[in-house]
Amino acid sequence: MTRASASSLRNPRAAHGYHGRSCSITSVGSYVPDRVLTNADLERMVNTTDEWITTRTGIKERRLAAADEFTSDLATQAARRALERAQISPEMVDLIIVATITPDMLFPSTACLVQQKLGARRAAAFDIEAACSGFIYALEIGQQFITSRTYDTVLVIGAEKLSSIVDWSDRNTCVLFGDGAGAAVLQNRPNAHGLLTACMGADGSKGGLLYMPGGGSRVPATADSVNARLHYLRMEGRETFKNAVNAMYTAARESLRRCNLEIGQIKCVIPHQANQRIIESVGERLGARPDQLFVNLHKYGNTSAASVAIALDEAVTTGRVQRGDLILLMVFGAGLTWAAAVIEW
Ligand code: ACO
Repeated sequence: MTRASASSLRNPRAAHGYHGRSCSITSVGSYVPDRVLTNADLERMVNTTDEWITTRTGIKERRLAAADEFTSDLATQAARRALERAQISPEMVDLIIVATITPDMLFPSTACLVQQKLGARRAAAFDIEAACSGFIYALEIGQQFITSRTYDTVLVIGAEKLSSIVDWSDRNTCVLFGDGAGAAVLQNRPNAHGLLTACMGADGSKGGLLYMPGGGSRVPATADSVNARLHYLRMEGRETFKNAVNAMYTAARESLRRCNLEIGQIKCVIPHQANQRIIESVGERLGARPDQLFVNLHKYGNTSAASVAIALDEAVTTGRVQRGDLILLMVFGAGLTWAAAVIEW
C-alpha cells in the first residue's frame, strides 16, 4: 500500500472529503523562562520534601517567569521560534489563538497582545480557555479554520504564567505548577496529514475540583477577597487524579478508534505533564510500552495549556519523532475538560 493511501485510510477527515483541504503542522516551538525553582527551594518555602514531591508527582524542578515577564511574553517567544522554523514571517499569519488560564489581563486577550509583539498585523486574534486541555482544543479550532477555507496560516499557542495564581503558602498545589509556552504553525498544504483527529470533552458538574474562585464577575477583586486568598488556584488532588486517568484513557481510545489505529502503531504518546503516576496509569490502561511515553514533567512541572505543546516541541527537536511518525496527544484539566488527538507528524 502506498503511504498516501495508508494515510487516507487512517485519516477520518480525508475519508469524509474534508472540503478538499488538508492542514499540516508545519512547525512547533517552545519557550520556558530561565529561573529554576527546585524541590529543595520549595522545602525552604512550605512544609514539604523532595522525597514527597518526587514520589507523588515525579516533578524535580519547574521554571518561573520573571516579575516583568508575562504570559504574552512567554507566548511570543514560543511563537517566534515556531515561525522561524517554518520560515514564515509574522505578516503571513492569518489567525492567532492563545490557550491560557493566566491571561495578562481579563481583557484585551493575550492573543491580541501577542499579535502586537510579533508584528502579525494581518492576523485576527482571540484566546480560548480550556485549562490544561487548551492546546488540543486550540489545535482543533485552528484546523477547522484551515479546512473550512477561512484561513491559510494559523498560529496556535498554549502559554501560562501559573506562578501568578499559585498560592505559595499551600503545599498541596504550589509544588505542582510551572510557567512556559509552546506554539504550532498550522498551514493549508496539499496532501498534509497533521491533525488526523481530535476528541474533546467536558463535564461542568465537576468544575469545583479545580478552580480559582476570585477575579471574575462572581467574585470581583476586593480587599476582602484578596485577604480570603480567593485569587489563587484551588484543587481537590485525589478526585482530579481519578478523573484525569479515566478521561484521558477514554479520549485516547476513541481517537485511535476513529483513525483505525492500534496503540502499538503510535511512535510517541505525549500525555499532559501533570503527574508521573497519572501518565503511567493511563499508559498501562492503553497498553502503551514505557518507551512510547514522553515525559518531561521532572523539568517543568504542570504548565497547563503549555504542557503538551512544550513536550511536542521537545519530542521533535530531540529527534524522538520524525516526519511521518504517529503521535498521540492526551490532556486533562479544569472544567473539567479533556481531549486526545492523533497527529501524523
Ligand atoms: N508535601 C508533603 N505533603 C503533602 C504535600 C506536599 N507538597 N501536598 C499534600 N501533602 C499531604 C496531604 O496534606 C495529605 O496529608 P494527610 O493524609 O495528612 O491529609 C497527604 O500528603 C496525601 O495527600 P493526597 O491528596 O492523598 O496525595 P496524592 O497521592 O493524591 O497526591 C497530588 C497529591 C500530587 C496533588 C495528586 O493527587 C495529583 O497529582 N492530582 C492530580 C492533579 C492534576 O492532574 N491536575 C491536572 C489539572 S491542572 C489544571 O487544569 C490547571
